[in-house]
Amino acid sequence: MMNNLFELDKNYVAGTYARFPVDLERGSGATYYSASGKEYIDMGTGIGVTAFGACDEEWKNAVISQLNKLSHTSNLYYSEPCVTLAKMLAERTGLKKTFFANSGAEANECAIKVARKYYEDKYNKHGVIITLKNSFHGRTLATLSATGQDKFHELFNPLVSGFVHANANDMSEIKTLCKEHPVCAVMIEIVQGEGGVNALDKSYVQELSAYCNSNDVLLIVDEVQTGNGRTGELYAYMGYGIMPDVVTTAKGLGGGLPIGACMLGEKVENVLTFGTHGSTFGGNPVAAAGAISIISRLNETLLNSVKQKGEYLKNELLNADGVESVTGLGLMLGIKTKKPVKDVVNYCLENGVLVLTAKDKLRLLPPLNISEKELDKAISVIKDALKV
Ligand SMILES: Cc1ncc(COP(=O)(O)O)c(C=O)c1O
Repeated sequence: MMNNLFELDKNYVAGTYARFPVDLERGSGATYYSASGKEYIDMGTGIGVTAFGACDEEWKNAVISQLNKLSHTSNLYYSEPCVTLAKMLAERTGLKKTFFANSGAEANECAIKVARKYYEDKYNKHGVIITLKNSFHGRTLATLSATGQDKFHELFNPLVSGFVHANANDMSEIKTLCKEHPVCAVMIEIVQGEGGVNALDKSYVQELSAYCNSNDVLLIVDEVQTGNGRTGELYAYMGYGIMPDVVTTAKGLGGGLPIGACMLGEKVENVLTFGTHGSTFGGNPVAAAGAISIISRLNETLLNSVKQKGEYLKNELLNADGVESVTGLGLMLGIKTKKPVKDVVNYCLENGVLVLTAKDKLRLLPPLNISEKELDKAISVIKDALKV
């Protein structure tokens, strides 16, 4: 049966993923089961999505209750869940308005359009966006072009023009690029996730924010992976003492349903006007109802517990055999392993722990509410896997 599934997948699903030989059938919290009944502790949350674990009751109830009322309406009509969510995000962040999309890449597409239109409206010319080397902003053509990693570009030329890339943590390069190009925005991830779970320096981010402010360059923070409690802050920029002009998010926001959000600050809140952007599914009431249930539970107590669990996990791993370094913030950690990371992942899978990688690192993104017992069980297997 299982082999049949793998075979059917190979025959009928586009081969864009190197899947592990695991077929997940059901789950509850941080525990998943394969069709054959094998148990796994989830340290990956479907790449940072299921913030409160699999089939979380409160999220499920919010989604089902909305499904029983209305599953979809077009954006030609008003819909309460989308408005409630937008108001909630504005009140929690200080940003003003939200455009809803369906994924991280789409949220970033919106941010790119906002930055370009802001510049066109104000200066009547095309603006260039600076992104950082080693960044990851998505796989649509514009977000791929924004991504500062050549390996993602190679087969997809011609890329979308209007992006230049700077080294992370190098303010002088930003200043030089701003002299050479008409720069409308700088886009950063506070922790470069796919790039290897590396947090930017606080002093760099603060200097960048001040520079952008005084030079009318928009600061876009891509919080697709870092957002919604993942780093122990509602959004990671909040721990850096800055106020971006645009914040994008997705993944954990929906708790398991597709939703993306592009939050617009005061400077750009009215840049998008009638007809300048849109999405059939954006702001879908079911996805929005799920997101409301996630955001409403990301209170101080929960965020503090993410910080505490993150510290605990980090310290356990720092003291483990076979670890060179641990990077990241909160429950978004990258571990540089002495062994090839592939071997660590395979051992974890064989022994019932789902983990991720980022470049040559092991990456952990467990549910924000993972129980201590489940966390300890996972740590014990990961420690065995790491041993050289
Ligand atoms: C920082 C960042 N931005 C954008 C994306 C793209 O998100 P999506 O896969 O939802 O389009 C990702 C996905 O990993 C991401 O980590």
